[in-house]
Order: sequence, then C-alpha cells, then structure tokens
Amino acid sequence: MILDKKTAGVDPAVLSVRELVSGLNRYYYVYTFGCQQNEADSEKIRALAEAMGYRRADRAEDADLVVVNTCAIREHAEMKALSLLGNFRAKKKNNPDFILGVVGCMAAEGHIKDILKNKFPYVTFTLEPNMIHRLPESVFRYLTDRKRSFVFGEDRGDIVEGLESVRQSPHKAWVSIMYGCNNFCTYCIVPYVRGRERSRAGSDIIAECHRLIDSGVREITLLGQNVNSYRSDLDFPDLLSKIAEIDGDFIIRFMTSHPKDTSDKLISVMAKYKGKIAPYFHLPLQSGSDSVLKRMNRTYTRDKFLSIVEKLRGSIPEIALSTDVIVGFPGETETDLEDTLDVLEKARFDTAYAFIYSPREGTPAAKMEDQLAEEIKGERIKRVFALQDKISYEKNLPYLNKTVRVLVDSREERGGSVIYTGRTDTNKLVHFTCDDASVGEFTNVKITKTGAFDLIGAKE
Ligand code: SAH
Ligand code: SF4
Ligand code: F3S
Repeated sequence: MILDKKTAGVDPAVLSVRELVSGLNRYYYVYTFGCQQNEADSEKIRALAEAMGYRRADRAEDADLVVVNTCAIREHAEMKALSLLGNFRAKKKNNPDFILGVVGCMAAEGHIKDILKNKFPYVTFTLEPNMIHRLPESVFRYLTDRKRSFVFGEDRGDIVEGLESVRQSPHKAWVSIMYGCNNFCTYCIVPYVRGRERSRAGSDIIAECHRLIDSGVREITLLGQNVNSYRSDLDFPDLLSKIAEIDGDFIIRFMTSHPKDTSDKLISVMAKYKGKIAPYFHLPLQSGSDSVLKRMNRTYTRDKFLSIVEKLRGSIPEIALSTDVIVGFPGETETDLEDTLDVLEKARFDTAYAFIYSPREGTPAAKMEDQLAEEIKGERIKRVFALQDKISYEKNLPYLNKTVRVLVDSREERGGSVIYTGRTDTNKLVHFTCDDASVGEFTNVKITKTGAFDLIGAKE
C-alpha cells in the first residue's frame, strides 16, 4: 500500500536555524546503532544538519549538535545507547547551546521516551524513526525557546520524499523502498516502533536509482524490514527488473527478505538479471523447529524454508545465502535447538548471524512462560557458532584459485604494504594486494587463501 506522500521541500526551520548558527562555526556528529535502515536514516540526518549550517565534526566531543540514532532490537543495543548518552551530561552543563537528540527505534518506545524525558534532562529532543524530517524544527525550538521536545505517537503513515543524503560512501548507496512491518513475529519490536508497512512509489525509487547511477554509484542496496513484500503499482520482482534495466556498471542488493514473500517470480528475476542483481540472498530462518516457528509467528515450516533454499540454488547455482537465527526463544527445548542445527547443516548458509533471544517489552514473546536461563542460551549459541564457523569455512574453500569480481571499498597501508578491501558479488569480504586498484570500481581478484570469514587474494 502507498500512503500519503509528503515532499520535504525546503523546511522553513532549516533556513531559520541556518540564520541562527551562521558565523558561529557549529559542528554536528551522528552516532548510528542498529540496521541498515538506520544507516540510511543517519545519512539523511547528516544532510539535514548540513542544510542547517552545521559542519561535520570528526569527534562527538567537538560537536554542538549530537544525534544518537538508536536501535531497540535487543536489550544490549539499548543499554549501549543509554550509557553513551551519559557521556554528554557534563558537556550540556558547560554549553547551554549544546543539543543532544535521540532518534530512531528507542525513541518510539513509550517507556524509553519517558525515561529520556524524566531521567535524562540533558537530552533535548527525541524523534521517532519516521519523523526524522522534523529534526530542524526540534533544533530550532531548542535554540530559540530552550524547549525540549518529545515527538511521539503521531501519525506514522506518511512517506516523506525529497530528503537529501550525505552518503558514507560515494560508490555505495542505500535506497529505502518500504518502511515498517506487518508481520508481528512474536519476539520482535520492529512493527511497534516502525509502524505498518508502507511502500514508496516505484517511479520515485527508479528516479532515485537513475540519479545514483548517473553520479557513479556502483552498488545500490534496496532496504526494507520486509523488502520482498514491497508493493506499489509494482511488486518487488517488477521493481527489481526495472532497476536492473537501467544502463550502467552497477550491482543491486536488497535486504531483508521474508521467506513467505520469496516467490518463484522473484527467484526467476534474479536469475534473469544475473550480472546486475547480486547472487546473494539473506533469508532469515530464526529457528529450525516447526513448533518454535509457529510460536514465533513466522508462518513457514522448516520444510517450506528448505524448499526455498533449494529453489534459489537450483535457479542461481553460484548464489551465496545468509541467515539470522534466534537462540533461546521461550520454551525452546534441546530438541528444538537440534532442529535448528539440523537446518543449518542442510541449508549450508555461507554466513549465519545468531542472536540470543532478548525479551522486548510489549511483544507477546516477552510474556510467554518458560523464559530460558541466560546460561542455557549462552551455551546453545556457542553450539550454533561452532557449527556455522565450520560450514562457513567449507563454503569458502571452492573460491581458492578462482578469479572473482570485487567492488573495491577501501585502501589501507599496513606495515609497509597496501591492502585493498572489497566484496565479491556474492558479498564475500576480500582483502587483496595490488599496485593500482581504484576504490569504488570493480576489479578482478585471484583468491590465494580462504578462511571462514574472508578471502585473501591479489589483483589479476
Ligand atoms: N526484518 C528482518 C530483520 C529484523 S531484525 C527479518 O524479518 O528478519 C534482525 C534480526 O534480529 C532478526 O532477523 C532476528 O534474528 C533478530 N531479532 C529480532 N528480535 C530479536 C529479539 N527480541 N531477540 C534477539 N534477536 C532478535
Ligand atoms: Fe521483526 Fe518479523 Fe517484521 Fe522482521 S518480519 S521486522 S523479524 S516482525
Ligand atoms: Fe534496530 Fe530499528 Fe533496525 S530496532 S534493527 S534500528 S528497525
């Protein structure tokens, strides 16, 4: 569904702040926790800060505007953000113009917003993830009236088009294509903090991709919490085809997909546009036990999941697969864990990200009985890591002596030699030596050594 679309245009608050800080040499700094969606939002926050006349600081200590873009997915992420905020208490005392904003998913949790308001007097504003365009207004209110603001619980339906981004990398770009999630997996906070699913218009996305490719971007990653449930006038496979048909030397990635929306049509589009759409798929399993999957509300079975893996490999033999696994969901038995290990053995993912289940306030799973002890969860995740490390190592062995295309991300001098780092189309991390690779370009690398987590090679 596409909901109302607003166009950012030039916000009068941007111009007003610009006037207020003009000639004052003001600096900003943005911290980012969480997923790629937050990375993409932070790039927009940077652009808003620069439009308001702030300059980028290398260190938060030197900034007059600090924005912390938070994640609520697990308790650990929240603890890290809250303890980071404490560092700014003294700074606020010494500089009344100092602004500390908390944005992102934690700002959309009622109890956290209240803690920030009542226990963190040096936090000057909060904004929920879909309210980032209102950052200039929050900054303006604080600079003029010293008013703290906590924007919360307002309409989460709008999509704001036209916000600029200051990208971290000139050759890689995130493109958010849909926001929110309707799946309500019982452990997950995302639907509560990011709201319902809404998709951008296909024409806006395609126009953005054209602009990015014209400006030299070599990798576009389409983002959404449930990217393959994208639906506007186009469905996700049609959108992918249209982007793949744009002329240019670039590769398309996307994340995160839900198994239930991984259709045959999507797989055949990936196979058809092999050179343009990366042969890589992140397919979150979460658990290999049907009874746990059911209680997670994942809506697929282990057999269904394995059949999707088979179809992906059948249509795109070189495809690399990765997954997410949650260990220690309430009531998870030893047999359930063995089922998860069994699916990992059968699916043979290139990479698996495993997480210890973290109860999230307000989600159904947090209220379930049989919450497991931390020691059991800790012991089980170690077993998942041990198995997956072995599989990842084995999956990389066939790369030995092969030549692969790598998009070069960085160049670093280490102990007198120059090491380049990049990613294969299958998203493998590669470190390689070479006389003259260009960062931001594709290059061919011959692999001379493989490990579980990376490949080593030399430019061919
Ligand atoms: N939309 C994506 C990603 C969501 S968050 C998806 O559907 O997979 C990324 C990962 O965090 C999830 O895949 C899940 O493995 C993990 N996760 C989410 N909630 C969690 C929780 N409460 N505790 C531990 N891990 C969690
Ligand atoms: Fe969370 Fe499930 Fe939505 Fe992913 S699909 S964001 S895990 S509710
Ligand atoms: Fe975290 Fe929000 Fe992303 S909870 S994982 S930053 S959608």
